[in-house]
Amino acid sequence: MTRSYRFPEGFLWGAATSAYQIEGSPLADGAGPSIWERFAHTPGMMVGGDTGDIACDHYNRYKGDVQLMKALGLHGYRFSVAWARVLPEGTGRINDKGLDFYKRLVDELLENGIAPNATLFHWDMPAALDDRGGWLNRDSAHWFAEYAEVMFKALDGRVQRWATLNEPWVVTDGGYLHGALAPGHRSKYEAPIAAHNLMRASGAGIQAYRAHGKHEIGVVFNIEPKYPHSQSPEDLAATRRAHAYMNEQFADPALLGSYPPELKEIFGDAWPDFPVDDFKLTRQKVDFVGINYYTRAVVKNDPAQYPLKASPVRQPNKTYTETGWEVFEQGLTDTLTWFKDRYGDIPLYITENGSAFYDAPVAEGDVLDDPLRTSYLRKHLKALHKAIDAGVNLKGYYAWSLMDNLEWSLGFSKRFGLYHVDFATQKRTPKATAKLYAKVIESNGTVLDD
Ligand code: BGC
Repeated sequence: MTRSYRFPEGFLWGAATSAYQIEGSPLADGAGPSIWERFAHTPGMMVGGDTGDIACDHYNRYKGDVQLMKALGLHGYRFSVAWARVLPEGTGRINDKGLDFYKRLVDELLENGIAPNATLFHWDMPAALDDRGGWLNRDSAHWFAEYAEVMFKALDGRVQRWATLNEPWVVTDGGYLHGALAPGHRSKYEAPIAAHNLMRASGAGIQAYRAHGKHEIGVVFNIEPKYPHSQSPEDLAATRRAHAYMNEQFADPALLGSYPPELKEIFGDAWPDFPVDDFKLTRQKVDFVGINYYTRAVVKNDPAQYPLKASPVRQPNKTYTETGWEVFEQGLTDTLTWFKDRYGDIPLYITENGSAFYDAPVAEGDVLDDPLRTSYLRKHLKALHKAIDAGVNLKGYYAWSLMDNLEWSLGFSKRFGLYHVDFATQKRTPKATAKLYAKVIESNGTVLDD
């Protein structure tokens, strides 16, 4: 019997990017430096010495890029706003020229029938705020709310879907615990504080929205489901710790107003006793949650790993992407059903999902065939459909990413795009995955039928 993959009526098909990864011209028109500007210009931090100075030059080429979206038939586009373009010092003085860029982008999207979805913070904190302690400073929640309010006043009405933060786990794990991402700190004493202040900031941003906003606001988490390597009590406990650390540490304070007990066990003397009143701020009503899903982890107990005492186990005979992530589509279904079971029937979006694979160079006029990425997309969309069948209230899907871009400290070495970007010429070429995605959108999924 054939299985139909028709998605619900009105299902939103989109693609996502983020400011520092694509815009280039980070200091143009009076913008202040961000922590990524500083990090990328610190020798040794970025693979190949790459920076976001030019990236996809989207700051200048956004009109052409909106046409790429239109060619796919996208209903929605998820982008992020560079805080330091709008408020060069992070608070206070507004830089109208920076704000104007986002007004122009949003106008262009709307003129082309594409719904803008704006994320306020995708990792690029203004450097001036980092100088004041960044996410370690409790005032960061107020700084963020001030900035959020500027954006709501300027664009609510034209932007109807907002997200406060993108992936606070990555900010704290990469930026404050292991140091591979900006601002490059390595401290288990800092990580829980930064995490907590990020969730206070998200709450403060949502509160600010409720005062003026007329549409939808939510928050975006990366969720990576954890599966035990064995049924031993040690591996099961390690799996619980890994799950609490990566997934519940952020979704729990936002949606339940608490932290899972494993965090105290993981951080030991570094786990602060946060004021209970803080949870009134972190826990706000959200209109949706965005979930970024890439892979799973199979977890084993590993006392040598700091501070989690757990490590991932590579699976034999499985496909791994160029970022070392197992292709595991069942994890997407499991993530969505877990999320619903734990947090209730909140409208959900997949706000990112995609894969980095090596793309062979193509001659002019050739089709850029990317079979592994195409297969990844196909499998994950089917897994998504399974979750809808299981009763998950899923409203839409944003592919990561519209085009190849700066993969943070991995530079341009990892390509996630639907469109290939030649960074020397800025030429964009659709990959076979883009062609499949356009057909998915046009047929609302039935091109996947089998
Ligand atoms: C982030 C993106 C990133 C992608 C692939 C997510 O963690 O939100 O900015 O490029 O995953 O690593």
